[in-house]
Amino acid sequence: MVGTAHRSTGVDGVDGGVGLTALLVAAARAIETHRQDSLARDIYAEHFVQAAPASVDWPIRIQQVPEGDADPLWGRFARYFGLRTRVLDDFLLRSVQTDARQVVLLGAGLDTRAYRLDWPADCVVFEIDQPGVLAFKHEVLDRLSAVPKATRIPVPVDLRADWVAALTAAGFDPAAPSAWLAEGLLFYLPHAVETQLIDTVHRLSADGSALAYEAKLEKDLLQYRDSPLYTATKDRIGIDLLNLFNLEPRPDSAGDLAGRGWSTSVHTPFDFTRRHGRGPLPEPNDALEGNRWVFADKSPRSNGASRCGALPPGRGRGRRGGRVVGGFRLPRYGIRTGLTTRPDSQSRSAWLMSASG
Ligand SMILES: C[S@@+](CC[C@H](N)C(=O)[O-])C[C@H]1O[C@@H](n2cnc3c(N)ncnc32)[C@H](O)[C@@H]1O
Repeated sequence: MVGTAHRSTGVDGVDGGVGLTALLVAAARAIETHRQDSLARDIYAEHFVQAAPASVDWPIRIQQVPEGDADPLWGRFARYFGLRTRVLDDFLLRSVQTDARQVVLLGAGLDTRAYRLDWPADCVVFEIDQPGVLAFKHEVLDRLSAVPKATRIPVPVDLRADWVAALTAAGFDPAAPSAWLAEGLLFYLPHAVETQLIDTVHRLSADGSALAYEAKLEKDLLQYRDSPLYTATKDRIGIDLLNLFNLEPRPDSAGDLAGRGWSTSVHTPFDFTRRHGRGPLPEPNDALEGNRWVFADKSPRSNGASRCGALPPGRGRGRRGGRVVGGFRLPRYGIRTGLTTRPDSQSRSAWLMSASG
């Protein structure tokens, strides 16, 4: 166990502390689901929101929000979560189309991908989160008689404890390829816990495995303290994200993975907004400015060459130095993102991501 303190309250359910953030994401997914131009649909999301006393009054449709899309919380931030859900849905589905048959959702929260997505028949989805969060999730899904579309194995354990023992005891096989997801998780964890988690994912990942995670780059997150997104989330629904985030300097996990032979690619959410034609765009005093979505894959030939062989035309590095992915040019890694990666490797994960949707 890495013994550094969590910044949350010690509550391990959805009523408070970091567990409450799972309800925020669920409400955002409910709103996204009911949009005519939704990027992702989650029919279970609104049931979580309505089942928890903390969120029963939150909106589940954009029509219930007086300012609509102009609302920083239920408009822009919720759309951010809708976009993130879609991009990571695509990542996981592409990953299981190739090698991986085991999916591990780290800090799964109220993620219902095991129930929503069309998985291969032999796929297993492991969900790791705090016991109280998973207990609430089961209560709601059982009441709905929800049936998973893959073998789903909850692993109720704190990621600061010995989660590897719990995961392997639940049937995870480190010798087989796996797809890992840490969505909306790492910035809540102390530096040492993130470092250990990435190291552990590396050790448990056979060749052919893939990982996606969300990171925040800011050296000083507090500079966005007064941003509309943070203030609305704090003042209106009582979630003080800056108090829940771990404010220690973040490790360079993408760089660590690249140093261990993984191919990594780092993207802003805005890259995907442009790709999908909807989602948040940059704005002044923007709490989303430092958010990065990182895709990594581990393969015997990821050292500069994609395991997928030749990429579709136009998806290599462009003349101006950034990669052209899905018809648009990505920023040069390591310049705009500040995250280290291997600039010359065209990763399978970039292809997985760009070929989707
Ligand atoms: C913002 S929510 C994201 C949930 C889910 N990944 C999603 O995107 O819908 C963060 C989740 O991380 C979980 N989490 C945070 N710290 C954790 C820890 N130390 N151990 C297990 N889960 C943790 C919380 O309980 C919560 O469900």
